[in-house]
Amino acid sequence: MDLTTTYLGLRLANPIVPGASPLADDLDMVRRLEDAGAPAIVLRSLFEEQLTLEAMDEHHSLDAHGESFGEAASYFPSAASFVLRGDQYLEHLRAVKAAVGIPVIGSLNGTTPGGWLEYGRQIEQAGADALELNVYRIATDLFTKGSDLERQVVALVCELKQSLRIPVAVKLSSSYTSIANVVWELDRAGADGVVLFNRFYQPDIDVRELAVTRSIHLSDSSELLPRLHWMAILSGRVAASLAVTGGVHTAHDIVKATMAGAHVTQMVSALLVHGPAYVTRLLADLRKWMDEHEWESLDRMRGNMSLQKVPDPAAYERANYMMLLQGWRSAYSQGR
Ligand SMILES: Cc1cc2nc3c(=O)[nH]c(=O)nc-3n(C[C@H](O)[C@H](O)[C@H](O)COP(=O)(O)O)c2cc1C
Repeated sequence: MDLTTTYLGLRLANPIVPGASPLADDLDMVRRLEDAGAPAIVLRSLFEEQLTLEAMDEHHSLDAHGESFGEAASYFPSAASFVLRGDQYLEHLRAVKAAVGIPVIGSLNGTTPGGWLEYGRQIEQAGADALELNVYRIATDLFTKGSDLERQVVALVCELKQSLRIPVAVKLSSSYTSIANVVWELDRAGADGVVLFNRFYQPDIDVRELAVTRSIHLSDSSELLPRLHWMAILSGRVAASLAVTGGVHTAHDIVKATMAGAHVTQMVSALLVHGPAYVTRLLADLRKWMDEHEWESLDRMRGNMSLQKVPDPAAYERANYMMLLQGWRSAYSQGR
């Protein structure tokens, strides 16, 4: 049975890739993930804010750059409070490369053009096989237009593609008005892959303490559904590789994501909960399912339930939404 896949031009033994997270912080964990069958690994992100603060610290001139940056900097953790400084990140990347034989994908997280993008080249020089650019942005001001944000993301990709030889994937959030168009523009700009979707940071309110509470909740399989929907819409229509991140927990989830069109399924929450050996179990479950349902390869399965291939494309479109709502209303009135 053939579980191989090609992602960002990299030939991988299977599609179960540990996504950007603390999973790759520890060399022993990285080796255990490789031993369990992970075909590649994504490192945690270096953040634009962190790299900008580091550059400012280096010049001992935070105050000299005027109030606007000084004030903005106070919202962020100090450069020293990030898990890995920029130079430590590069050193860790070299160590991970030396420790395992699988492709290692570096990650940058930011949204505006600037000197921090130079780290893309340094990540390449440190031996990364590819770079993931996470463009998570929460535009809280009232004057930034969606189209400006989209242009900025495309500009970042163009800049990285001009300076890098390694493939570049873009990790997107689902909060664009026209996701299909954003992905198409990124594809035209030369992005080698898109990763759908970032999970949202969702602050809550503690009404007793009158405080905004911050926490990261791990996902469950229900979060996969919006990813499947967009994967199915995009499959076969762009040259870029497609990765799912968010809500992949079981072999069933991997089958669904592949049928929707994913080349790889990134996993974090499930591996944080079950540990690295879970990859081996998922691979066994996946082989068993494919055997029982007479699938010889993931390549043959990929995209067979995409918008282009599915017998009923309306299932992915507005028509289905209307039918569902209408149907629910009549079922409800009949039951009363
Ligand atoms: C503790 C933790 C740390 C993460 N750190 C990063 C990061 O540095 N960069 C990034 O792009 N995504 C990061 N993510 C997001 C994951 O890569 C992934 O997209 C998200 O958790 C959804 O996948 P899952 O449902 O398999 O957890 C992090 C997630 C968790 C839970």
